[in-house]
Amino acid sequence: MLKGKTVILGVTGSIAAYKSASLASMLVKQGAEVHVIMTQNATNFIHPITFETLTGRKCLVDTFDRNFEFQVEHVSLAKKADLVLIAPASANVIGKMANGIADDMLTTTVLACTTCPRLIAPAMNTRMFGNSIVQENMKKLEAHGFEIIQPAVGYLACGDTGSGKMPEPSVLFEYVLQKIALEKDLSGKKILVTAGPTREPLDPVRFLTNHSTGKMGYALAKIAAMRGAEVTLVSGPVELQAPLFVRKLDVTTAREMFETVRAYAPEQDIIIKAAAVADYRPVHVSSEKVKKSDGELEIPMERTDDILKYLGEHKREGQFLCGFSMETENMLENSRRKLEKKNLDMIVANNLKTAGAGFGTDTNVVTILTEDETEELPVMSKEEVAQKILDQILSRIQQNG
Ligand code: CTP
Repeated sequence: MLKGKTVILGVTGSIAAYKSASLASMLVKQGAEVHVIMTQNATNFIHPITFETLTGRKCLVDTFDRNFEFQVEHVSLAKKADLVLIAPASANVIGKMANGIADDMLTTTVLACTTCPRLIAPAMNTRMFGNSIVQENMKKLEAHGFEIIQPAVGYLACGDTGSGKMPEPSVLFEYVLQKIALEKDLSGKKILVTAGPTREPLDPVRFLTNHSTGKMGYALAKIAAMRGAEVTLVSGPVELQAPLFVRKLDVTTAREMFETVRAYAPEQDIIIKAAAVADYRPVHVSSEKVKKSDGELEIPMERTDDILKYLGEHKREGQFLCGFSMETENMLENSRRKLEKKNLDMIVANNLKTAGAGFGTDTNVVTILTEDETEELPVMSKEEVAQKILDQILSRIQQNG
């Protein structure tokens, strides 16, 4: 996802510097050209050789260091950078950057970075972080276009507990992806995605549900946000971590999903219903645990609201509606029928019996159906499928003016 992108990773004198090695590795694995610049103090916490081994490039420390790739190192590097991230950023370096001091390779290079996104992940003792001088310096940097990634709250190396902990490398990595991985071709669009199963209670200890894990819906929400959309994710109960840059609304039952989607639908440009919503729920929810008896148990069931059908009936001018269809037989005919019956613009169909498709897997095999086209896709990761679905939606919206 970061092929062809140049990232400057600034590492300063904080114990969290050791975590930046794994961040550098994640960036390299995604294809980025990573240039690590360390302050002299940072070399007390982690050796430059660690970064050199991970990035395959000389790790610059001294202002007069050279890796012979560039003419005037700090300026050429700053010009080439797609993003600069200082992680961890010490109070000292934050203070220097806020005041235009450029007395080493890192601060000099950052001062020359004027066009690319500049992210700062402060990491320090909680008293230092709360100090009004540091806070003021960060505000000043924000006013100059830097983005501060708020530190996590937790147990700090000095034994204190509080705010000042550098977020995990995986979180910082998500920030980098969000900023530069994908073209922002969905910016200005509001997208609502539903994901996961619903749970229909029977009594205080039991419920009816299905095997949905939410992976497809979460991938759609994540990729849409990376492409610049304002994403609302309405999620049934799943084990997945919420993507960082989406608004997540948790629901449990089909009724709750219906109410939430109905409330947010009118303002959306695109709605994608990837959730596996229960079609039936028990008519009575017992307030006490249902006790077993010798005979068979029958549970009377009633229909839930068909959320997608409701959305199709209330689709406003210009709104794009995409459903999902999971079948075990007659996939194309059944899915096309749903497309028409529910007044959809697109339906993404898969056959649960195909290898690599369906619940819980990291891959999917789908066919995208619109009124006039049927596009069959090969087995792909759910993130790649999400890209394809969003590409198709965008091109349809553009076609329709
Ligand atoms: N869906 C919904 N509300 C429901 C049931 C389903 O919004 N109560 C949505 C799903 O999110 C999905 C689409 O409808 O996008 C297809 O769901 P599916 O259960 O496969 O189709 P149904 O229309 O319920 O048809 P059938 O049960 O005949 O397969």
